[in-house]
Amino acid sequence: MIAVRDLAKRYATKQGGTGVAAVSGVSFTVAKGEFFTLLGPSGCGKSTTLQCIAGLETPDAGEIELDGTVVFCSRRRLLVPANRRNIGMTFQSYAIWPHMTVFDNVAFPLVHGERGSRGIDVRQRVMQTLDLVKLADYADRPSPHLSGGQQQRVALARALVHEPGLLLLDEPLSNLDAKLRDAMRVELRLLVKSLGITTVFVTHDQLEALSMSDQIALMRAGTVVQQGSPADVYLRPVTAFAADFMGRSNLIPGKVGQGTNGTAVQVETSFGVLRCAPAKSVTAGAQVYVVVRPQAIILRSGPDSAANVFQARIDRLHFLGDAFEAEVRIGDAELRIMLDVYFQPALGQTLWLELPVERCAVVQRREDDPGAVAAAPT
Ligand SMILES: Nc1ncnc2c1ncn2[C@@H]1O[C@H](COP(=O)(O)OP(=O)(O)O)[C@@H](O)[C@H]1O
Ligand SMILES: [Mg+2]
Repeated sequence: MIAVRDLAKRYATKQGGTGVAAVSGVSFTVAKGEFFTLLGPSGCGKSTTLQCIAGLETPDAGEIELDGTVVFCSRRRLLVPANRRNIGMTFQSYAIWPHMTVFDNVAFPLVHGERGSRGIDVRQRVMQTLDLVKLADYADRPSPHLSGGQQQRVALARALVHEPGLLLLDEPLSNLDAKLRDAMRVELRLLVKSLGITTVFVTHDQLEALSMSDQIALMRAGTVVQQGSPADVYLRPVTAFAADFMGRSNLIPGKVGQGTNGTAVQVETSFGVLRCAPAKSVTAGAQVYVVVRPQAIILRSGPDSAANVFQARIDRLHFLGDAFEAEVRIGDAELRIMLDVYFQPALGQTLWLELPVERCAVVQRREDDPGAVAAAPT
């Protein structure tokens, strides 16, 4: 179990002043055995958070609890050093010793680490761990003679060799090519799940986060903006940033209409009223976005009695192999939709589109939203 409470960390800058706020009030809890992901764009504070948990950085404020033991508390001035935290960690840059064999790299924490190897048969433990990551046959190989995927496994084996209670993984798949990354996503999750080890995984890749995690904390500028299961975060984004970061979304600016109540939300947009899924705390008159994913929009053969059916014109078409992505115009709004490859769409063609009510989510509009500048006032 990991509990992080109100974590804050600033880095000093050469210029002096108050420095850079890398993490500003981050809180989350990771249940025992859970695969938990910190997801967010580069620079949002993921690695800093991970290093504070590992004890490699000292936070300015907050509290960190690992398996029932408080290892950091700013209020009580408590700090347990990294080597007494029972954590295995891999770094963004693998950090493998190039002059050593695979075996020696993995044995390193046992032979040289401060935790030592008392009572451990080093050879047996290293070989067991190499077996786990399918590298037993590579034990004697010099590290430079390894592929990217094999290096990644060496780093993982080295993190696991102490049989730690918690595993921290900083962008472990980011340096791999696309095909290998796909395969390793599945393999890595299976491995840590089979070990039952509580894992915090860091990535900027939403697909990795969605496909591997039990829980995702989406971060932006040093804060957690949304936490939930992959389906939750993907299907029910609470901000425009979350909608935009978790895969493509159409963000349609509008104003919440008077007819809105607990069960029906109506939003006035530039091309008409959209009925939307019920949303917490939306009040009539609020400036919002209707968020609807390209693949959520349904092709209709004509106008019909369903809600939210509009006529659209195809402005641009992109062939993606397994689908067409089309940019369509409804009134003066531009939307992205996905079309079946076997449907033969043509530029300028008119279509009838349904934006299904339950797939239209409403989020508040904020000044720092992506695309906020382009949003026409309504
Ligand atoms: N050692 C450091 N000194 C100064 N600034 C740092 C240091 N490490 C990270 N930062 C800054 O802190 C912010 C968060 O960085 P980081 O935690 O590495 O983000 P992420 O891992 O999400 O890309 C960034 O603005 C980064 O430039
Ligand atoms: Mg990082």
